[in-house]
Amino acid sequence: MSSTMHMHGGIGESIKRKEDARFLRGKGNYLDDFVLPNMLHMAILRSPHAHARIKSIDTKAASAKPGVIAVVTGELMAQHKLAWMPTLSGDTQAVLATDKVRFQGQEVAAVVAETLYQAEDARDAIEVEYEILQAVTSPEGAKAAGAPLIRDEKEGQKDNHIYRWESGDKTGTQAAFAKADKVIRLHTFYPRCHPSPLETCGCIADVNGVTGKATIYMTSQAPHAIRTVFALVTGLPEQQIRIISPDIGGGFGNKVPVYPGYVVATAASLLIGRPVKWVEDRTENLISTGFARDYHMTGDLAVDKNGKMLALRVHLDSDNGAFFSDAQPSKFKAGLFHIVTGSYDIPTAHVTADGYYTNKAPGGVAYRCSFRVTEASYLIERLVSNAAMELGIDQAEFRKRNFIQPEQFPYTSATGWVYDSGDYPKAMDVALEQLGYEELKKDVEARRKKGEITGIGIASFTEVVGAGHGAEFDILGLRMFDSAELRVHPTGKALLRMGVKSQGQGHETTFAQIVAEELGIPARDVLVEEGDTDTAPYGLGTYASRSTPVAGAATAMVSRQLRDKARKLAAHLLEADEEDLVWERGKFYVKGSPEKSKTIQEAAFAAYTNLPEGMQPGLEGVHYYDPPNMTYPFGTYAVVVDVDKGTGQVKVKRMVAVDDCGVRINPMIVEGQIQGGLTEGFGIAFMELITFDAEGNCIGSNFMDYLLPTAWETPKFEIGQTVTPSPHHPLGAKGVGESATVGSPAAFVNAVIDALSPYGITNIDMPVTSDKVWAALRSKGVTE
Ligand code: CDP
Repeated sequence: MSSTMHMHGGIGESIKRKEDARFLRGKGNYLDDFVLPNMLHMAILRSPHAHARIKSIDTKAASAKPGVIAVVTGELMAQHKLAWMPTLSGDTQAVLATDKVRFQGQEVAAVVAETLYQAEDARDAIEVEYEILQAVTSPEGAKAAGAPLIRDEKEGQKDNHIYRWESGDKTGTQAAFAKADKVIRLHTFYPRCHPSPLETCGCIADVNGVTGKATIYMTSQAPHAIRTVFALVTGLPEQQIRIISPDIGGGFGNKVPVYPGYVVATAASLLIGRPVKWVEDRTENLISTGFARDYHMTGDLAVDKNGKMLALRVHLDSDNGAFFSDAQPSKFKAGLFHIVTGSYDIPTAHVTADGYYTNKAPGGVAYRCSFRVTEASYLIERLVSNAAMELGIDQAEFRKRNFIQPEQFPYTSATGWVYDSGDYPKAMDVALEQLGYEELKKDVEARRKKGEITGIGIASFTEVVGAGHGAEFDILGLRMFDSAELRVHPTGKALLRMGVKSQGQGHETTFAQIVAEELGIPARDVLVEEGDTDTAPYGLGTYASRSTPVAGAATAMVSRQLRDKARKLAAHLLEADEEDLVWERGKFYVKGSPEKSKTIQEAAFAAYTNLPEGMQPGLEGVHYYDPPNMTYPFGTYAVVVDVDKGTGQVKVKRMVAVDDCGVRINPMIVEGQIQGGLTEGFGIAFMELITFDAEGNCIGSNFMDYLLPTAWETPKFEIGQTVTPSPHHPLGAKGVGESATVGSPAAFVNAVIDALSPYGITNIDMPVTSDKVWAALRSKGVTE
């Protein structure tokens, strides 16, 4: 028996992850492990062109291939009114193309066959005649005079512009800029990258010919929302749809949207009457499913002569691909980008955003990010470092001078966000102390004198996670609340069902820990179930680090609700007045007589066996939690790099990451989240890039070209923490899953730019690869 088994497993205990017992033994239940009787396989034919008119599709040869049951085209889907579907941002997206293809990799047809290989062979026999059109691969190209119209099927769409969105105070910001002593500008590009979960996306649709019930096993981070969308799209009654999200091998935002493959597989199963499995391969995942970022940003920071920030003005052009399908609350077209004032007390700000269609895959998913917060955090942290450099003020000192101070919380930002709590100076002090900042600065100075290229980068990010509250935050109108249903059995063991869905974050452990803390039932006795819409209460799912802030709060609340009932049961058993009972985790005792007590398990048993007059039997409840506000985790990351003069190669020598996510439920799991997030941030900063050539061909369609960091490349991360509880969360917890991916890219790039600053280099866009660094050094005549 492991030590974990003996622990109570309350909040703050680093108990081992319950789910790892099956994951480490290779016994997880991932989508591809499911084999249903009579199951067919589906392969999708994708467009080789970024922009082309479909002149004809010939399926005869494919249909005649062995094992083929059906070849599905857009025309067939159109007969069932399923050729197009709504996106999460209220646009429309082609399920299978009928008129044009609008990005390379777009779904054109599908083959359903007895085996996957037969489906793939037949897919290759489909003949499509295309008339190639000019491709648009950037917002600049999208707005150029004479640019081809990508969405010509949309009524009233005259150009490639999707939206103009703004936030903040334009006039006030203009006035502040007019008074500024200095304005620092940064133009930067946060390139397209991909969440790249280990497991790709897929589904098995099983529509029962007799009952009409559609059971869809799906790699979905948001099964309930998907069920509702499916009901609306297909017209099937919602109670006849069951989405089951089994174990998921990483999501990171990639598994929030509805992809055409899900719709085609479901339609195929409905028409054929047999289960249909579709699992995309790695290239399909990289070229056609939800990308992230692709923001071109310009920031202007106005400062006075004392180095105080006066105002911030930001404009961004968003490259949304062929269909506007960002996963984000409907009223925020650029996600929560307007958190862009970050950790700084900037009196006024104005933010504008323009979205454009391009001939690239749609998506705009919140890759380990609360709806575009990552881009915002990157811009402000890069801009602040550049400003410090230009002003000749130490980058830590400049930040400290402008931080929102602890006593200013709750703090309303210039764009209207109410930050719940924070202590930014403290997080920075802890990080700089851990780094040995003052000594390091001297070392950098000395080594630069010897001609070496070395630098320190800092990022003091503020995040916003835990959407809703529901009045402001929604997905296609569905309010962003979340839920927990807790059932305590007669023997005092419990079943907790949640509306969120873990993709590896350890929910089966941490949510059991919340029950352990609140109700006193040991975590090992609490079974956590997620991902089955027929059994779990309705919830909006797991993304944007919302599980702990929202579903974690729901778990605490339902546990407290049951504790109130258990108190009545204990009073009945003890023949005492309810008011005279004292709660100590796991039991009630009579005030002044601790020997007269009843455990939570005894109270649970009584709920089924020995009730007070008039009480309903059972000990169970459900809580739907609509948070009063978001939570605002934060931290300071500091990075030290050396740059090789001859090759431009960057070596990360040290990385200190101090995070504050309020109260930590399981410190070990939190640290795991941070280690993983830092690795992803490192990959984005230095290696990962989904890019396109002038014809819209996707470069980076496999892991030979799209470079993910492995243990070999990843530096060691030194972790630190501060704890500033959230005042409105029942446990004081804030989300943490995405903090490190949000905060770290700017810290890495700031370190490189600091190293290159003596040569007048002020920006290199990510990924900061050796060739880019070398070229920048060469342009200044520095390389060896
Ligand atoms: O929504 P998602 O699960 O991705 O993100 P999260 O709420 O930030 O939680 C990630 C994991 O860290 C979960 O297992 C959480 O319960 C755990 N966590 C924690 O133990 N303490 C916190 N303050 C925040 C998260």
